[in-house]
Amino acid sequence: MKFVRFIMKNAALASVPKHIDHFSKFSPSPLSMKQFLDFGSTNACEKTSFVFLRQELPVRLSNIMKEINLLPDKLLTTPSVQTVQSWYIQSLLEILEFLDKNPDDYKVLGEFVDALVTIRNRHNDVVPTMAEGILEYKEVFPQDLMTNQNIQYFLDRFYMSRISIRMLINQHTLIFDGTLNPVHPNTIGSIDPHCQVGDVVQDAFHSAKMLCEQYYLRSPDLILQEICVKEKKNYPISIEYVPSHLYHMLFELFKNAMRATIETHDDSNNLPPIQVMVSLGDEDMSIKVSDKGGGVPFRRIENLFSYMYSTAPAPHIGERTRPPLAGFGYGLPISRLYAKYFQGDLQLYSMEGHGTDAVIYLKALSTDSIERLPVYNKTALKNYKVSQEADDWCIPSKEPLDLSIYKMPK
Ligand SMILES: Nc1ncnc2c1ncn2[C@@H]1O[C@H](COP(=O)(O)OP(=O)(O)OP(=O)(O)O)[C@@H](O)[C@H]1O
Ligand SMILES: [Mg+2]
Repeated sequence: MKFVRFIMKNAALASVPKHIDHFSKFSPSPLSMKQFLDFGSTNACEKTSFVFLRQELPVRLSNIMKEINLLPDKLLTTPSVQTVQSWYIQSLLEILEFLDKNPDDYKVLGEFVDALVTIRNRHNDVVPTMAEGILEYKEVFPQDLMTNQNIQYFLDRFYMSRISIRMLINQHTLIFDGTLNPVHPNTIGSIDPHCQVGDVVQDAFHSAKMLCEQYYLRSPDLILQEICVKEKKNYPISIEYVPSHLYHMLFELFKNAMRATIETHDDSNNLPPIQVMVSLGDEDMSIKVSDKGGGVPFRRIENLFSYMYSTAPAPHIGERTRPPLAGFGYGLPISRLYAKYFQGDLQLYSMEGHGTDAVIYLKALSTDSIERLPVYNKTALKNYKVSQEADDWCIPSKEPLDLSIYKMPK
C-alpha cells in the first residue's frame, strides 16, 4: 500500500510542470470589493464559489509559480526558497484533485473547505521563509543592482499574489464553514461593510504602543482627527474594507513612527505625539500618520520600500519567537502592497530634521476597489531579462575636475 502511494505521489509530482504550463496560460480574474460583498451576501452560493475557486486558485498559483522559476539560480536553490516552492506544488496538487469532483455533492464541498484551511495553514510562514532565503543569498553573494531589481520586482508580485490567494481562501472558508463570526456578526467573510476607520486606527495604535513600551519603556500619544466632506453623512468615517488589511498597514506605520520618535527624542522627557488624520472624499479615503521622528533623507525614501533594506539589525535566521519592533525591513513594502491590492497606495513624505508623514490612500467606493493582480506574460518575462544598460544621465566624477588643462596659454 505504501509503495502504491509512493508511485502515485511521484506520478503526481511529475505532472506538475504540465499543469503549471496549462493554468498559467489563463489570466487571473480580478474581483471588486462589491463582487466579494455580493458574492458573500445576496448571492452566496457555495457551489458557485467552489467551481470558481477550483479554476481560479490554480490559475493564480501557476501564474506566480512560473515567476518563481525565473529567479536567479543561486536564490532559487536556497533551502528556504525550495521549501516555499514545495508548498506551492503541494497546494496546487491538492486543489487539482477537486477538478473532476461533483459540485452537487455536499461531502465534496466540505472536503474543499478543509483542503483550503490546510493550504492556508501550510502557507502561513511564506513571508519569513522567503525572507530567510533572501538573507541566505545576500550573505553569500555580493549584491549587484540587476539582481536587486529582479528580486524587488519578483517579491512585490509574489507577495501581492499571496495576499490575493489568501483573500479568496478566507472568503470561501469564512462564509461557508457554517458559523457566524461572534465578535463581528456583520462581516462578510473578512470584509466589514461598515469598517470604522477610527476604531482600526485606535486598535493598531494600542498594539504598537504595547510593543513599544516593552522595548523602550515609554511611548508617544495619539491624536486622531477625522474629516469628512460629505457633512454628517458618514461620521465616524467608515468604508467597505478588510479591517485586517487596514490594521496591518497602520500597525506597521505606528511601529515605525514610534521607533523614530523615541530614538530622536532620546534625551527628552516629553515625546511629541503621533498625529493621525482620516479624510473621506468622493473618490479617496486617506489616512495620514505624522510623526516628529527626525525624518529620512529624500535620497533614501525609495530604499525604504526595498526588501533588501532595513536600518534595524537583521533578525537571526529561524528567530521567530517575539515580533520585533523593527526586523526584516518588510513593514513598508508589504503595507504598500496591501494598499495597492484594492487600487490604493501608500506614500512617504519626509522632511529630514523634522519628521515623516506616511499616507495610506484607499478607494472610497467599493466599485473602484478592484483586486490588482500580477499576470505572467511576455511583459513580465521581459522584466526579468532586462540587462543592465549604461546610465543615460552623466555620473559626476568623484575627483574634482582639473580645470588647469583648459587654461589657454597666455
Ligand atoms: N516614520 C519614520 N521615520 C524615520 N524612519 C523611518 C520611518 N519609517 C520607516 N523608516 C525607516 O525605514 C526603514 C524601513 O522601514 P520598514 O518598516 O520597512 O522596516 P523596519 O521597520 O526596518 O523592519 P520591520 O520589517 O519590522 O518593519 C526603517 O528601518 C527606518 O530606518
Ligand atoms: Mg517597520
